Amino acid sequence: MNSAYVFSWCIVGLAAMASATSEGEAEPTCFSRFDYDYKMLQKLVSLEQTIQNLKDSLAESKNKIEDMSREYELTTKNLQDLLSQTKENIESGSVYIRWGRNECQDNAEIVYKGFTAGKKWNDGGSGGDTICLPEDPSWLNYSTINSPRGTVYGTEINIEEPSGVFEKKVLDQNLPCVACHVKKSSVIMIPGRGHCYTNWNLEYNGYLMADKHSHPTPHNHVCVDHHPDFMQGGGKNNDDHILYLTISKCGSLPCPPYANDRELACVVCSK
Ligand SMILES: *[C@@H]1O[C@H](CO)[C@@H](O)[C@H](O)[C@H]1NC(C)=O
Repeated sequence: MNSAYVFSWCIVGLAAMASATSEGEAEPTCFSRFDYDYKMLQKLVSLEQTIQNLKDSLAESKNKIEDMSREYELTTKNLQDLLSQTKENIESGSVYIRWGRNECQDNAEIVYKGFTAGKKWNDGGSGGDTICLPEDPSWLNYSTINSPRGTVYGTEINIEEPSGVFEKKVLDQNLPCVACHVKKSSVIMIPGRGHCYTNWNLEYNGYLMADKHSHPTPHNHVCVDHHPDFMQGGGKNNDDHILYLTISKCGSLPCPPYANDRELACVVCSK
């Protein structure tokens, strides 16, 4: 407040005092007016101070909230990472046999490498399935006692050359196999498809193989890798456990979508 302003209020105050005196009431209006202004000013200053204090504490709170929110985001992210890692480590995991190969894909871990095996093609008994016998067997008891047994033979592939399917000669080759462990909760072998469905990961694809249709006793279907590895020195024709390509036959099986006499693909997918 400048002095001219104070002075002008004093003039007005004196005039008011003059009229008030005439009515018998003596009040020091000028000083009281000044007092009033002074007090107002004091209040204004203190109000400004209060506002400044509030602003300061607001800014401080804002900083604190921002810090907390950053910390919260970090913690949430850490927890999410931990959760997904835990899920991967504990909840999921599957094993499949990759027939005709001795290596797993990059995302999978080898459980063991082995030799594909099964019954002799014309034996009426023994096991009907194709198995993956480890390269490094370990034994429990064994004996030379002569009593009835089932028999297991190594597997060879039987396809006239050129196969029109595989990129290299496969006739009479003995097939390796490998057990692969993936950190996925589900694995499926789909016969009749060379490709996985959406949101499923390809483990490997190839051709559906089993025994020849006219052989006396069957063995099960296996999915043999489209790019097979062969066992060293295993190209001799032994006619033991033999795998053949499998073709679809129209009739009860609708064509299309299937086709007559067409080699069926297969795929192993995980999720
Ligand atoms: C092996 O044979 C011995 C003698 O008969 C027996 O005591 C033992 O339990 C057998 N071991 C296994 C693992 O079957």
